[in-house]
Amino acid sequence: MFFESVLAQIATVVGGESARDEKLQAVACLLKSAIPYYDWVGFYLVDTHGGNELFLGPFEGEPTEHVRIPFGKGVCGQVAQKKETVVVPDVSRLKNYLSCSAKVQSEIVVPILQGGELVAELDIDSHARAPFADADKMFLEKVAAIVAKLW
Ligand code: SME
Repeated sequence: MFFESVLAQIATVVGGESARDEKLQAVACLLKSAIPYYDWVGFYLVDTHGGNELFLGPFEGEPTEHVRIPFGKGVCGQVAQKKETVVVPDVSRLKNYLSCSAKVQSEIVVPILQGGELVAELDIDSHARAPFADADKMFLEKVAAIVAKLW
C-alpha cells in the first residue's frame, strides 16, 4: 500500500547518520512530495528551556509567522496540552486557530511523544477542504512514532 512505502522511506531516513534537524527536514520533504494535498508540512518542537512553548523546526512550504506558539494557543498549542491528534476539516469554523495563509482550509496536528512526554508535533496544512481521513491519521501517527526515536 502507498502509505506503507512512504513509512518505509521515512524509517530509512530516521535510521540514517545525519543530524536530527536534517532528518526532520527530509521527512517533511518526503511527506509533502508524496501526498498532493499535504501543502505545508512542518515540525514544532517543545522548548525545554523557555517553559510551555513550541518553536518552529524544519518545515516544507511557505514561511509562517508562527515561529513560537504558547501551549493552549491555536491547534498546535491545544495538541500540546491534550497530547492527542487533532483533525480540523474546516479551519474557518475554529475560534482558537492561528492562520498561516488564507489558502489553508484544513489541518491535522499529531503529537510526537517520547516516554509519554510531548517532545514535538507534526503539523500538516491543506488547501483542500476536509481531506484528512482516518487513514491519514493512522499513517501520520505511525510517522510520529518513528520520528519520536530521534529524541
Ligand atoms: N495553524 C496552526 C499554526 C501553525 S501553522 O499552521 C504552520 C495553529 O493553529 O496552531
